[in-house]
Amino acid sequence: MDANHFTRRHFMTAASAGTIAAIASRAIPAYANASRRASKLAIQGGTPIRAKPWPSWPVWDSSAEEPILSVLRSGDWFRGRGTKVSEFEEKYAQLMGAKRCLATASGTTALLIALHVLGIDAGDEVIVSPYTFIATYNVVFLSKALPVFADTDPETFQINPDKIEERINERTKAILPVHILGLPANMDRINAIAKKHNLVVIEDACQAWMAEWRGKKCGTVGDLGCFSFQNSKHLPAGEGGAVVGNDDEIMDRCHSFHNCGRPFGSVKATSGYPTRGSNRRMQQFQALILMSQMKRLENDTQRRNENAHYLTSKIKDIPGIVPHKLYEGVTRAAYHLYPFRYKKEHFNDAPRSKFLAALSAEGVPCSGGYGPQYRDGLIEEALNSEGYKRLYSRARLSRYRRENQYPDNDRLCEEAVWISQSLLLADKPDMDDIATAIQKVYDNRDKLA
Ligand SMILES: Cc1ncc(COP(=O)(O)O)c(C=O)c1O
Repeated sequence: MDANHFTRRHFMTAASAGTIAAIASRAIPAYANASRRASKLAIQGGTPIRAKPWPSWPVWDSSAEEPILSVLRSGDWFRGRGTKVSEFEEKYAQLMGAKRCLATASGTTALLIALHVLGIDAGDEVIVSPYTFIATYNVVFLSKALPVFADTDPETFQINPDKIEERINERTKAILPVHILGLPANMDRINAIAKKHNLVVIEDACQAWMAEWRGKKCGTVGDLGCFSFQNSKHLPAGEGGAVVGNDDEIMDRCHSFHNCGRPFGSVKATSGYPTRGSNRRMQQFQALILMSQMKRLENDTQRRNENAHYLTSKIKDIPGIVPHKLYEGVTRAAYHLYPFRYKKEHFNDAPRSKFLAALSAEGVPCSGGYGPQYRDGLIEEALNSEGYKRLYSRARLSRYRRENQYPDNDRLCEEAVWISQSLLLADKPDMDDIATAIQKVYDNRDKLA
């Protein structure tokens, strides 16, 4: 697979499976970093900077085993026949500082529930970041609305608040900021724009467990926040998700919708099904895994932040390496990925793919991250569908196609380099290995192109 098109999940799996031990199987001689840097690149047969494997992911302990076995033996596997899912919901709401949490089958279903309950419907427009996992595009299309992208701020990798207002019109219903890579989006600016234009804010916090904006957890700063607990995530359960919010009536509607439209709380019925709905429920097993995983989340988050900040201090002066910035309002990031930008003009014009291959060979797994997905087939496939042609005028779809240009995001997709969260769970000297490997590739840049 081409390094540029390595998906985040493939990358996370490879990074955490100790693949690097296989790439770098020779013993590293004990000589100083300076001479290691000057030595031949590993990709050209030299000795890699690092042979030691990185921490693997996910990590579990035996405390989950007994409760899982007990639910297995009970036969009460779905949430309607037990208490485990609601126990998890209470704990997660408390951890997030939210009044309520609804556990769901996945992050995608959490987003679909939030969009439905906040009234996003056929013909609406939703402002979204183009730099995200594809689910964020898909949920808007699945709601028969139009995802209208606001270009990316390349310094932070987040939606650029300066580019949002120019994308708003009378059809705009919501802003869907994504705290992508676990780094918070600029929520002060986003909330202010939403208030001015009477829009709802649904946070895609699917990569941002425990990240904070001015001391509040990401996912609780807008109207509703959505999380993913898929296998690669910091709070993993194989699959799973959650919606968090503070408005009881809205959260009751989320619950009802996720349970086939059955009554719940303020959603009442004299008989049967008072609202439309769908089955988006979490299983008891997922809740049990999540409750055991929650125990490590705070310490892991702290470690990732410490190591990320240390790594930034070590690489920030290497020419052509531009570490990500955090907005002033960020009090904590989640660091689902550690990103920086690669400026090839400082690397003898070597394309990013060469840099990625060289750094990986030195024992530091890395990837180029998201591509410009708005040029993939999915948008045209949606716009050409009978439903979209019925819902949106030809003029409107033509304008949409014309405006589908995001130069800053295009450049970011060419320059980004990602390092997986599991590497940030290693020790400080391991961060030195990453920095030394990057420096070594820089020192050998004339041999890259
Ligand atoms: C930013 C973002 N949004 C949404 C999702 C969808 O979550 P799930 O895979 O749990 O459906 C993901 C999952 O990777 C994500 O990273």
